[in-house]
Amino acid sequence: MHQEEFKKLLEKEAKFWAHFNEDALKKGIPHWLDLQNAKPIKRRPYNPFNDSRIEQIIRGDIKEDFLQSAKNIVGKNKRALDFGCGMGWLSLELSRQGFNVDGFDLAERSIEIAKNYSKKMKQKINYKVADLNNQKFKENFYDVIAIWDVLHHLLDPEIVLKRLKKSLKPNGKILILDHLGFNQENEKIVKMLINTLPAKFSHIVYRIKRKLKLEKNKKEDQVIEDAPFEHCSESKILPAIKKILPNADIKERLPIAIHLAHHHETPDFLTEPIWNFVKHIDNKMLKNGAKGEYVSVIWTKDIK
Ligand SMILES: C[S@@+](CC[C@H](N)C(=O)[O-])C[C@H]1O[C@@H](n2cnc3c(N)ncnc32)[C@H](O)[C@@H]1O
Repeated sequence: MHQEEFKKLLEKEAKFWAHFNEDALKKGIPHWLDLQNAKPIKRRPYNPFNDSRIEQIIRGDIKEDFLQSAKNIVGKNKRALDFGCGMGWLSLELSRQGFNVDGFDLAERSIEIAKNYSKKMKQKINYKVADLNNQKFKENFYDVIAIWDVLHHLLDPEIVLKRLKKSLKPNGKILILDHLGFNQENEKIVKMLINTLPAKFSHIVYRIKRKLKLEKNKKEDQVIEDAPFEHCSESKILPAIKKILPNADIKERLPIAIHLAHHHETPDFLTEPIWNFVKHIDNKMLKNGAKGEYVSVIWTKDIK
């Protein structure tokens, strides 16, 4: 890709995230700003990530695993890198655990928000704007490198992982949660659940209108263009992890829950039981060998 074109797309990517985050902040404290003080926020178009209850049920276990894994690292002056930190929820949690945290992200506005919020929370975090496709890091420097939902936005996960591996101290850990893409083999079960689980009345009306092509371009449905690098390297993620991080603890996750959540809005009072049920189905499907839409990885660098 031509350098100028790449620069323009990066600017669009940053603009998308700045807008997405700023808009969420107008409605309250989203969980991707502060896990501990988050409340469900209401905004249109519907997006399950706005509801901290759904997020906690669906991905809370992965977050707990990661945070516990970081907590288990012993020593003084521990350093963590939150790679693609967004507004900084993970930087904040690692800082609360006592790590010296560096949080890097492309979106200047997200970094500004993260800086202000961490000050408010009295956590000293070193936030910096950077394009992580090209950023180099000090070698043998970090005890933990956390990468939450970011690799699939970068051009070459293999190059990035190689760099990060070098900047990790012996016994340090790389923690990754990333998007691999929804496996169409699981579509049938999603459709079945959409047709059987209770739905919010307004969502039923919306679906009917859409089917009948009566749905106009409502103001609440206008979003700015999607992030240009969304999904750009999904297919490269697993091969890169297997190549660069040998013997990593790799778990496929969430075969249907997040995909379903994007297509099915549940009545508020049934949110918790429904998504607990879906999470249960997800786990059963994984046990039976279904492919995950996401992958989580915990990798420890050998002392050798
Ligand atoms: C799905 S969000 C995840 C953010 C954060 N890890 C979280 O959990 O809230 C993806 C993030 O990747 C960042 N990003 C995308 N491309 C990037 C790049 N080339 N360099 C640095 N950050 C980038 C975006 O700004 C956005 O904050």
